[in-house]
Amino acid sequence: MAEVQLSAAPRLRGALSVPGDKSISHRAVMFNAIAEGKAEITHFLMGADCLSTIACFRAMGVQIDQCVDRVVVHGVGLRGLREPADVLDCGNSGTTLRLMTGLLAGIDGMYAVMTGDASLRSRPQRRIVDPLRGLGATVDGRQNGALAPLSVRGATLHGGSYDLKIASAQVKSAVLLAGLSGDGVMTVTGRTDGRDHTERMLTGMGIDVQTRGSVVTLTPPVHPVFPYALSLRVPGDPSSAAFWWVAAAIHPNAEITTTGVGMNPTRVGALEVLRQMGAQITVSNARTEGSEPVADVTVSSSSLRATTIHGAIIPQLIDEIPVLAVAAAMAVGQTIIADAAELKAKETDRISTVVTALQAMGVRIEATADGMIIDGRGALDGATVDSHGDHRLAMAWAIAALVARSEMTIRGSEAVDVSYPEFWRDLAAIAE
Ligand code: S3P
Repeated sequence: MAEVQLSAAPRLRGALSVPGDKSISHRAVMFNAIAEGKAEITHFLMGADCLSTIACFRAMGVQIDQCVDRVVVHGVGLRGLREPADVLDCGNSGTTLRLMTGLLAGIDGMYAVMTGDASLRSRPQRRIVDPLRGLGATVDGRQNGALAPLSVRGATLHGGSYDLKIASAQVKSAVLLAGLSGDGVMTVTGRTDGRDHTERMLTGMGIDVQTRGSVVTLTPPVHPVFPYALSLRVPGDPSSAAFWWVAAAIHPNAEITTTGVGMNPTRVGALEVLRQMGAQITVSNARTEGSEPVADVTVSSSSLRATTIHGAIIPQLIDEIPVLAVAAAMAVGQTIIADAAELKAKETDRISTVVTALQAMGVRIEATADGMIIDGRGALDGATVDSHGDHRLAMAWAIAALVARSEMTIRGSEAVDVSYPEFWRDLAAIAE
């Protein structure tokens, strides 16, 4: 296990092009794998999670060429995936496991077993297994489908509907993808307000996906040219940029620009919360790349005040809560995070792991059933903290170290490879 020692930086300055969006990179490989034709994806995130997706689709007969941050996917068409000869390893990646289970459940003649690392094998899977079973799919796993390894025996599904109780884009996507090779309309209702990259990208590939209010429908294509291959440049990941936004906002001598960051409204809740907290933020150069909005974001030293983060905004910032908790600790006043019980279903139980680490940094913070309460006092102590193998924790603790009153030791620092392999290099580049 790698360990990093960090001390506070006197000054943070610079511009960073953060790596490609993780959610979009996964989808670009998966959807182009089952498309007609060849697609070139640039600014692809070569993090461990997306490499797991590439390996899984290669194991199903898809040729995928990789070079630096460019990937070429040679699509095999909707009915062209080969049954894998061995268990598919999803590593640490919930998106790989859940989206692939949905997709394969609808492919006639497919049989696959999917597993992952200890973290992924402990995460809840009934959230996809139940809806897929309800639609007629044959999916199983340990403890009656609660835990991976999962197995799926694909069959043509006849459409149907599922009412989503948790705002999970992975579940929404799994259900929609199960309908792609079917012969009826697939409908998702309820908490469809999670990220909408699946809907946007499939639409860009010629698939009929409609969103009306909270109702999302997918009509399977009747013509074999669909989905067609879609070449794209992946926008910078707002979940990665958020580390630099918080770093600049909490540091007394900072100005950091993140360039080409995805500004999809389902993803930028952290920017809105930081604005509410009083952060100095400038968004410039707004443009559209492919089917996603993109902009440059500059954040500079700010005096942050406490806030309440709850309700509808939670799905738009769920992955940013560890670093927002660091911002709250550096703000003045009590910040309450609520309606975020989903944190417990992430790579670690992020209510307990965040609370434990911030307590070690001298913060008065308390876990609640669906979030946490943080008493900001504008200071953090150095401490020895652990990533517990969770990439977002390793990076959040590094941001805390940039302002801490003494040296911070971060155990398990290699976890950043999951979503941001160049994180330590970028940190060295902006810290003067
Ligand atoms: C993701 C959806 C979110 C997010 C995860 C990526 C996706 O999970 O936390 O990092 O790519 O669809 P949920 O769908 O479980 O909320």
